[in-house]
Amino acid sequence: MRLILLGAPGAGKGTVAKQLTALDGSVQISTGDILRGAVQAGTELGRKAQEYMKRGDLVPDELILGIMEKRLQEPDCAKGFLLDGFPRTIPQAEALKGLLAKLGIRLDAAVNLDVPRDVILDRLTTRRTCSNPKCQEIYNVKSKPPKKDGVCDKCGSPVVQREDETEEAINKRLDTYNEKTAPLTGFYEREGLLLNVSSTSSDEVVAAIRKHIGI
Ligand code: AP5
Repeated sequence: MRLILLGAPGAGKGTVAKQLTALDGSVQISTGDILRGAVQAGTELGRKAQEYMKRGDLVPDELILGIMEKRLQEPDCAKGFLLDGFPRTIPQAEALKGLLAKLGIRLDAAVNLDVPRDVILDRLTTRRTCSNPKCQEIYNVKSKPPKKDGVCDKCGSPVVQREDETEEAINKRLDTYNEKTAPLTGFYEREGLLLNVSSTSSDEVVAAIRKHIGI
């Protein structure tokens, strides 16, 4: 499948993407995970991105577009991909449209995960993430705690709270989302690709997507 996952921070894009990749071998491409990996590895990209991310601001479009142009042409994308966290702005959406046309790739849908703000705030303050850049498994102290406190079930690395998960940064990320990313639903509606799913259950979201694309 070839999907874009849209939705506010904490809407469940990463959680749903992991469930969907298990269905047909599509790869999850999370720009947030790529950037956090670069910050931890101390690469030039990471150094450039870190201050924006810590504040809850978007990283400049040109940095993200450079990454995605290369990433979408890697061999593991041949079976399909789930874009989690990209595009985030209208210029990114326009650039993606041009890139996909150039590569001869058609999207199945752009799925908007619509979740109430109070649920989102609760989820983000209780989320924990594996600190291993190659794993980045998502946990939640309420709904999905690791079996051993503070230790990743999958790779044994420490499970931590993200640097941008302070109340101030969360509020900033939600404002940035409303200003810059929410308009993408209109963009994809006009492209005839939008699927809006209002649910707080990831199983229901996955079922709605499967029904829509027929798998
Ligand atoms: P990114 O990592 O993409 O963060 P985000 O969009 O803020 O998304 P999240 O990862 O916070 O949320 P999610 O929707 O994936 O929710 P999750 O499944 O984890 O980006 C981080 C930063 O990188 C940005 O702020 C920006 O600076 C930069 N960046 C990234 N991409 C960029 C781009 N394209 N352009 C510019 N800058 C960019 O779920 C959240 C929690 O809820 C978890 O605890 C989970 O367990 C729980 N949960 C999920 N679903 C359920 C459910 N159904 N029931 C109960 N709990 C649930």
